[in-house]
Amino acid sequence: MKTGITYDLRDDYLAEGYNDEETAEFDRADTIDAIEQTLQDLGYLTDRIGNIKSLVKRLSSGDRWDIVFNIAEGIEGLGREAQVPAILDAYNIPYTFSDPLILSLTLHKGMTKHVIRGLGIPTPDFAVVEGEDDIEKITIPFPLFAKPIAEGTSKGITAASKITSREQLFHVCRNLLFTLRQPVLVERFLPGREFTIGIVGTGHDAVALGVMEVHLKENAEKDVYSYVNKENCEELVEYRLVNDSMAQLAQETSLAAWRGLGCRDAGRVDLRADAEGIPHFMEVNPLAGLHPEHSDLPIICNLAGIPYHELITMIMDSALKRLQGKKPNSHTVRSTLLDPHLSCLANSNNRETPR
Ligand SMILES: Nc1ncnc2c1ncn2[C@@H]1O[C@H](COP(=O)(O)OP(=O)(O)OP(=O)(O)O)[C@@H](O)[C@H]1O
Ligand SMILES: [Mg+2]
Repeated sequence: MKTGITYDLRDDYLAEGYNDEETAEFDRADTIDAIEQTLQDLGYLTDRIGNIKSLVKRLSSGDRWDIVFNIAEGIEGLGREAQVPAILDAYNIPYTFSDPLILSLTLHKGMTKHVIRGLGIPTPDFAVVEGEDDIEKITIPFPLFAKPIAEGTSKGITAASKITSREQLFHVCRNLLFTLRQPVLVERFLPGREFTIGIVGTGHDAVALGVMEVHLKENAEKDVYSYVNKENCEELVEYRLVNDSMAQLAQETSLAAWRGLGCRDAGRVDLRADAEGIPHFMEVNPLAGLHPEHSDLPIICNLAGIPYHELITMIMDSALKRLQGKKPNSHTVRSTLLDPHLSCLANSNNRETPR
């Protein structure tokens, strides 16, 4: 099965002059290598496409794929994660992970929380600060937490993101508005345990792979799974799989959010408990990092004894099941799809020798 891979390579953007923080969400070369090698080991014929600009060029030169393994994060605008899937939709080329609606919605943490609230899922009270005038209108009790509305990898998040006074609130919000040039999400600070839940599958087939507690070590930045703590996670963070009653409640909440939002194939939901021990939704990651050792979803799998190739298998099986409308077994799907007569989307324009 001819499988394209779309992604944003961090090195490409660094070479263009973007800085470390601007490119923090993009993938390292070894992540793409690992995904491609695993897909090949599983019997897929891979073809590296690259970012949205390469995709557009390849499409206009007539290239097509049976499916695209899409992890492109995009560089510009609130719809940036949705751009590659939207183009693939226009060409009727199927792809892994969520669709443009979900990827646009979930990049905006405030809009996502409106939907999460509508689904009856606990999430802290919040306000969106578009400009300085909005800061004084905030009546949510301290302590608060402020973060950019549409970033990942804890961009803009430090120990100072936990806010205990109005003066600090002004300072942090102004700083975020100025440096990251986007609205700020201000919400109640959740003081309890932090969990990230790895999920594979779509709708009723979605299952949790494990509940991982994020435990900050003594020498870590306090209270927050911050940018610095993530970049230096080997020294500053301890990850544990947990299964106590609070963890189980976090798992149920994460699955309700995943299914309610309509996320597909695989990803992560991040939660933290409030003072009463109730896990609250913080955010969902429908394009979770896939570095075999450094990204949270593969870390959860490692702790749960799920090898990397099994994670990639489950992602592909979930995407293929959506295409075929029936539950595949990994082995039969791969052999079926290598058979050109049964390939669900065989295309006469396919290039003969994909990488
Ligand atoms: N309301 C809150 N109360 C307490 N801590 C919070 C709150 N919101 C976020 N945090 C802390 O900030 C961290 C990063 O927040 P969040 O998960 O929203 O950001 P992100 O950059 O999208 O993360 P990811 O790397 O998972 O994409 C959380 O893991 C948590 O430690
Ligand atoms: Mg997060």
